[in-house]
Amino acid sequence: MSPTNHAFQRCLSPDCRATYGVDEVHFGCPKCGESLDVEYDWDRLPLPGKLSDFEAYWTQRHDPIRFSGVWRFQSLLPFAATEHIVTVGEGQTLLQKADSLRPFVGLDGGELYLQYEGMNPSGSFKDNGMAAAFTHARMLGAKRAACASTGNTSASLSMYCAVTKLMRALIFIGTGKISYGKLAQALDYGALTVQISGDFDDAMARVREVCQQLDIYLVNSINPFRLEGQKTIMYRVLESLRWTVPDWIVVPGGNLGNSSAFGKAFMELKHLGLIDRIPRLAIINARGANTLYQLFEQEGVRWNEGRWQRPTVEGYFEEMDAQQRKASTIASAIEINRPVNFTKCLRALEVCDGVVREVNDQEILDAKAKVGAGGMGCEPASAASIAGTKKLVEEGIIGSDEQVVCILTGHLLKDPTSTIAYHTTDQDEFNEVLGKRGVTRASFANRAIAVPNELDQIIRAIQLYG
Ligand code: F0G
Repeated sequence: MSPTNHAFQRCLSPDCRATYGVDEVHFGCPKCGESLDVEYDWDRLPLPGKLSDFEAYWTQRHDPIRFSGVWRFQSLLPFAATEHIVTVGEGQTLLQKADSLRPFVGLDGGELYLQYEGMNPSGSFKDNGMAAAFTHARMLGAKRAACASTGNTSASLSMYCAVTKLMRALIFIGTGKISYGKLAQALDYGALTVQISGDFDDAMARVREVCQQLDIYLVNSINPFRLEGQKTIMYRVLESLRWTVPDWIVVPGGNLGNSSAFGKAFMELKHLGLIDRIPRLAIINARGANTLYQLFEQEGVRWNEGRWQRPTVEGYFEEMDAQQRKASTIASAIEINRPVNFTKCLRALEVCDGVVREVNDQEILDAKAKVGAGGMGCEPASAASIAGTKKLVEEGIIGSDEQVVCILTGHLLKDPTSTIAYHTTDQDEFNEVLGKRGVTRASFANRAIAVPNELDQIIRAIQLYG
């Protein structure tokens, strides 16, 4: 398949709509600055008659492109010729029915599912998008690729570089803003790692300048090709639900790439007649990084067919700068104040009749402990989806009899520090890591018991606590 002639980039602004080839690299429309989408001439492309047609590829898993949970849906993201496709086996993820977590979130008669994107090769959902962006970079013959990161994008990029040897990775991280699990990956995979004084928003601004000056390919989710890969998370959710559409998708919001990609996926599937209804979308911010919540729920900013309230948004960021407000949350993955996909996310909220909520660090960590106790666990940012679901059920926005899919974006082992601090008996450790963030209790802690190395005492302790 050589579909690049039928793919192009298009400006989101209704007043511009400029188009560009897929052989160009832009991170924003050169004419007006608005975000770009990857679009397709669907009428000229081969498409499945129905979604279940994709099941035919399950029998071809010896072919790396069919094995990939991203590229087996190639005909729904047909921007690359097959010979350029890069895969490291991403997208072998799992939708787990989480009955033991249902009482916690209050879904009495409903169904709760967890989509474990932490099962990707680098341990987070980023590999879905990286497979696509890396493929695009290869199409263009890039030699170096870069990102700013709170840790997972950098781990993913570094891994794709290490495995394929097609490019060299350059990553920008903020000081003290990246969990050890994620930093360990970038270092081990051999990425050129630049730690700047500042946070993610600072690193993001800087890496864009650096990429422009040095002609390096940028893989942050401002890159529209990243989002094409992340659409496939939704295809796999539908696949796991036997091609039925759930009532709700609940996802943590940071840079808003996932939510934007999910909205685009459903918009396209509906347009192509492959689904007949679109699920509702709930995006969950951490309270310490709640730009979307503030602008969408408090200020009432809406997509408005691409004519969103620009002065309100610009005023919000001006005030943020004037007050030097910095994002701060234990969920370091989503510690972001200036989401680069804000515009696309507004569209996704419109398409999916979405809502936005914020949850605090206490709620995030309690939800995270419950996820761990009822399944395979996740990192703090991912648990925002569970905490947010609980809130929305309490508010009656999510009906207690509805079917809800929470996206668990990253693996439990990405951030052991917060997990250990939550379960610790050491008050100093608790205060050092969590207390200073306003976390006062660990309601679902599973504490280790300290016992002298004496057989009878060990046995007594097991009998007492077991
Ligand atoms: N969950 C995890 C585990 C993440 O790493 C991120 C983003 C998000 C959620 C937010 O996703 O941007 O699509 O809203 N991490 C980025 C990084 C920023 O650099 O790894 P989003």
